[in-house]
Amino acid sequence: MNSGADFIVVANRLPVDLERAEDGTQRWKHSPGGLVSALEPFLRSKSGAWVGWPGVPDVDVEEFEDDGLRLIPVTLSAADVRDYYEGFSNATLWPLYHDVVEPPVFDRAWWDSYVKVNHRFAEATAAVASPGATVWVQDYQLQLVPQLLREQRPDLRIGFFLHIPFPPVELFMQLPWRTEIVRGLLGADLVGFHRPGGAQNFLWLARRLVGLEPSRAAVGVRTRPGLIHVGDRPVRVGAFPISIDSAGLDGMARKRDTIQRAQQIRTDLGNPKKILLGVDRLDYTKGIDVRLHALQELLIEGRVDPDEVTMVQLATPSRERVEHYQRMRQGIEQVVSRINGEFGKVGHPVVHYLHQSVDRRELVAFFSAADVMVVTPVRDGMNLVCKEYVACRHDLGGTLVLSEFAGAAAELTSAFLVNPHDLDGVKNALHAALTIDPAEGRRRMRALRRQVLTHDVDRWARSFLEALGSQGLN
Ligand code: ADP
Ligand code: F6P
Repeated sequence: MNSGADFIVVANRLPVDLERAEDGTQRWKHSPGGLVSALEPFLRSKSGAWVGWPGVPDVDVEEFEDDGLRLIPVTLSAADVRDYYEGFSNATLWPLYHDVVEPPVFDRAWWDSYVKVNHRFAEATAAVASPGATVWVQDYQLQLVPQLLREQRPDLRIGFFLHIPFPPVELFMQLPWRTEIVRGLLGADLVGFHRPGGAQNFLWLARRLVGLEPSRAAVGVRTRPGLIHVGDRPVRVGAFPISIDSAGLDGMARKRDTIQRAQQIRTDLGNPKKILLGVDRLDYTKGIDVRLHALQELLIEGRVDPDEVTMVQLATPSRERVEHYQRMRQGIEQVVSRINGEFGKVGHPVVHYLHQSVDRRELVAFFSAADVMVVTPVRDGMNLVCKEYVACRHDLGGTLVLSEFAGAAAELTSAFLVNPHDLDGVKNALHAALTIDPAEGRRRMRALRRQVLTHDVDRWARSFLEALGSQGLN
């Protein structure tokens, strides 16, 4: 029997996903998404444990160690994946928390499954936590875990961080199970959001739905958390904008291999004068369609020359069985083929669209090769891609076009900030970024790098854990 763990991350997914090939062989690969990109480098440098799902249904995997990190798998059945993960997490909460850009589905059987699976995660965590351990619960899939865990293990220090936006109260109030979710989160000692607005909304809901008396002072970033007393137990509520392993990416981008690979990418693309780049999970919140429509209109109007400008869109497959995602994929692939049909030449499409995940080194080479990084979500909790791009541009080259509706916009104010609902505004920003004076581009990139290199994921995690009063790190 393994000993208890002093510091535990609990997330829907483990940092690695089990992949089963058709010939029956299995391998572990890096899990998708920003949560893992951010937390994995931080946690690997500590000695901790990670409780999560191995990414495929109906597999029982024993606890194992991966590069010093203890991984504790939680099994989900095919029905759990359908109802808890694809259903309640990704067809109810995901659209509801992202400004209902798609209509959320309220299904009672999905809710029952969400409750059941949250119980399972809480039990798995209670079983491995040593007395007084720090447990850090992550994201919207596990909002009931703080309370369920506290009921079983009142000795633990429990933090919760939400990686996606917390919605305006008017939208949250649509949720039939709104009080249960707020009570679930109130089981934590510290509830963290990316932005002060999310924290403020949560404080309001604790008053309205649970009848508590939260503090009234405005919540600030990393400082001045809000406070609620649940009985005699204080719950702090704060804003902690997440970030990336900035120094790690900066180092990777400076490597000779990366620089050579970036040059090779330019050559493979036919040495265009300018490369536009998009990198996202294929998700309807990311505004991939927005940037494609903007490019299409710029081409039609002759403001962008297809012989000079090439766009690369890397899109990680995501949640492929959820209907919203299937519709969006069809729409995006249609625009890509329209643009290429009208403006491409044999051997030279204007848009190179890869429905694939690329490895980290390759991604850094793409960031290094791209002249304009286009990040246009209609809503995004933070968005790490824009920060990763900046971290890779030690040469001060490259320009960032960034949606105001990404949490990162509050920090990356030297980007070309755009309203993704204003297509003319997006077109003008793309055009300005493609034609920017190099000295102005360097000035902007220098300012962006100052922010990203000084506010990395280590600083984020430490500030959260300090506010939690955790002793658990070594
Ligand atoms: P989300 O968590 O919603 O997916 P983020 O921008 O916060 O969005 O994080 C996405 C993470 O996934 C980043 O680390 C990014 O580099 C990575 N990523 C996205 N698309 C790809 C891709 N096609 N290939 C490799 N990595 C990708
Ligand atoms: O940060 C948002 C997030 O939903 C994470 O919780 C999640 O791990 C990641 O994006 C990828 O999504 P999924 O786990 O559904 O593939």
